[in-house]
Amino acid sequence: MHLIKLLSLITVLLVCIINAQCNYRHVELGLFPSVNFSSTSHPSQIPIENNGLLDGVTWNRVNSEFEKLTNEPVNGSEYKLILFLRHSEGWHNVAERKYGSKYWNDVESKKPQYLDSTLSDDGIVQAQQLQQRIIKDVTQNKLRIDLILCSPFSRALQTAEIGLVHLWSNHRIPKISVEEARESIGVHYCDKRHNRTYLMSKFPKVDFKRLISNEDTLWTPDVRESDQDEFIRGRKVLDWIYNRREKRVIVPAHGGIINAITASLGYAWGEGTSGKTLPGDIKYISGFSMRNTEILPVIVRRDLKK
Ligand SMILES: *[C@@H]1O[C@H](CO)[C@@H](O)[C@H](O)[C@H]1NC(C)=O
Ligand SMILES: *[C@@H]1O[C@H](CO)[C@@H](O)[C@H](O)[C@H]1NC(C)=O
Ligand SMILES: *[C@@H]1O[C@H](CO)[C@@H](O)[C@H](O)[C@H]1NC(C)=O
Repeated sequence: MHLIKLLSLITVLLVCIINAQCNYRHVELGLFPSVNFSSTSHPSQIPIENNGLLDGVTWNRVNSEFEKLTNEPVNGSEYKLILFLRHSEGWHNVAERKYGSKYWNDVESKKPQYLDSTLSDDGIVQAQQLQQRIIKDVTQNKLRIDLILCSPFSRALQTAEIGLVHLWSNHRIPKISVEEARESIGVHYCDKRHNRTYLMSKFPKVDFKRLISNEDTLWTPDVRESDQDEFIRGRKVLDWIYNRREKRVIVPAHGGIINAITASLGYAWGEGTSGKTLPGDIKYISGFSMRNTEILPVIVRRDLKK
C-alpha cells in the first residue's frame, strides 16, 4: 500500500516536471480557420455551419492527416486534436445585452439570481441547432471524439448535453468535468458553480469527482481572477489533456477560458494588446471572442523545451 502511494506520488511529480518542461504549439495544416491567437480579431470568414472546418475540408481528411501525425511523431512530439466549443446563450448574456456591459459588470452581475446561469430559451434553440448541424458528422463516424472534457458550469454542460447528444449518449466516451475548465473566477455570480451534489443530479452522465470540493470554494464575491492566473489555469487544461491517453478531445467551455487555454499555443507569446506580462517570457493577450456554439478545432503539438 505504502509502495503504491509512493509510486503514484513519484508519477505525479514526474508529470509536473515534464509539463513544466513542455511547450504547446498549434499545427497549421490548412484544415481549420487560421486563428492568430495573439490578435483580437475573429476569423469571421468561417461560417459557423462548417463546425470549424475550412470550406471543402471533410472530417475524413482531418482524420487521415491527424493519424499521419500521430503515427509518425517528429522528435518525440505528441499530438492532440482539440475542439473547443463555446456554450450557447445563457441568461447572463441576455442580461448583459439588456443592461449594457457597464451596468452588468458593476451592478447586475453581482446578484445571486445569476448563480451558475443556465441557457436562455434562445440558448436552448441554439444548442438544438448545433445538434442538427453536427449530427451527420458524428453519426457517420467521421468526426471522432475520444473524450469530452467539460467546464463544471450548467450552461456549458447543457450545450454539450443537447448539442452533442450523440456523443453524450455514447457510454464509451468518458465525460469528465474539471475545475480548470470553468470560466474566469470571481465577482460575477454567473461564474460561480452549483455544488457537486446538485451538478451530479442534473448531469448524471458526467464524472464530477475531480472537482476540488462540493461547494465552489474558488469563487469569491470581491476578487476577479487575473489574466495571468487564468492563463496558468488554461495551461493546466492542456497539461490535463496531455496526461490522458485520449487523442481527440472536445472541450465545451467558455469564451474567457478558451482564450486563456489557446493563449499557450504560440501565437500569443510576445507583445500583445493587453501588455500584461506573465511569469517567464509569456505575455498573455485577452484574445478573440467566440460566438454562441462555435467550434474551434486545433491540432496541438507538445514538445520538450529546447
Ligand atoms: C498576429 O497578430 C498580432 C497582433 O495583431 C500581429 O502583431 C502579428 O504579426 C500577427 N501574426 C501573424 C502570423 O499574422
Ligand atoms: C528534429 O530535431 C532535429 C535535431 O535536433 C532538428 O534538426 C529538426 O529540425 C527537428 N525537426 C522538427 C520538425 O522540429
Ligand atoms: C446543493 O445545492 C442545492 C441547490 O442549491 C441545495 O438544495 C442543496 O442543499 C446543496 N447540497 C449540498 C450537499 O450542499
